[in-house]
Amino acid sequence: MPERILIDTDPGIDDAMAILLALASPEVQVEGLTVVFGNSADVHLLARNASAILELAGRADIPVAVGAASPLVRAYHGRGSVVHGENGLGGVVLPKPATPPVSQNAAQFIIDTCVANPGQITLVTLGPLTNIALALGIRPDLPRFVRRLVMMGGAVAAPGNVNPVAEANVHNDPEAARLVFNAGWEITMAGLDVTMQVHMDDDYLGGLGNLGNRAGRFVWDVTRFYVAAYHSFGYADMVVHDSCALMAILRPEFFTSKFVFVDVETTGELTRGQTIADWRRQYGHKPQTHVLTGVDEIAFKQLYYERIAALL
Ligand code: BDR
Ligand code: CA
Repeated sequence: MPERILIDTDPGIDDAMAILLALASPEVQVEGLTVVFGNSADVHLLARNASAILELAGRADIPVAVGAASPLVRAYHGRGSVVHGENGLGGVVLPKPATPPVSQNAAQFIIDTCVANPGQITLVTLGPLTNIALALGIRPDLPRFVRRLVMMGGAVAAPGNVNPVAEANVHNDPEAARLVFNAGWEITMAGLDVTMQVHMDDDYLGGLGNLGNRAGRFVWDVTRFYVAAYHSFGYADMVVHDSCALMAILRPEFFTSKFVFVDVETTGELTRGQTIADWRRQYGHKPQTHVLTGVDEIAFKQLYYERIAALL
């Protein structure tokens, strides 16, 4: 039986790549996409991207729900457009989606889907954790209904990508992330500790572009801006963030991990948005998070390639 997943996302170039991986994978069944601000401040733009990606893959049947347009407490100061372009997809323009989002907002959609299917749904988060936190605000018992939560976010030993200690998804809404880490569910965390280990160079991406299908062509096109951004930061290749969360579901054996209590700093002058792993159990809390620490990069890219090749 495939694992039933709800993907909360801010698409986003690497979100788009992860959504395609999910759609191509028989191990999971995508029940819906819920959209959050993050890679752009315009959540409606990101929701249109979500629908357009689904339509590109021939999956307009999957519902999209629009969610939070801003963080819980402080204003959005993200710089998503530097990495993802003004339209979130590196300037690639997909056909205007024919299917509108559902009328429920993302938090309600998450609640309704999980409560109607107790123990069945895995939440996969690829953006700031605001929608999940809002859902918890309405239904603090949500974790009782959820199978598990798998996130791309945070950095416990690796340096941050927004500042020396904070990763963008957590930094974009640290209060929301803190609520999610302390909600009482088991979390798998694909943070920068592991995502920075998966590189795709232009030879590999060119191979995807030449597969002869539109998904592969789209991955090539959409990564042009993203690769250029990584070059401008001094990296030789792009790294793959959001697909790591999906791959951790498809092939957990590709990863190594440590089970540890993780919390989020929300007030520090220099450390706001930092994810802290309590390696020595000094806080006295039970571990709740499987922090991914290593990955078989070659096996990862091989499977990613095969899955994109299988799409339209
Ligand atoms: C995360 O931030 C976003 O820019 C990416 O889509 C990814 O989810 C990486 O820090
Ligand atoms: Ca993302």
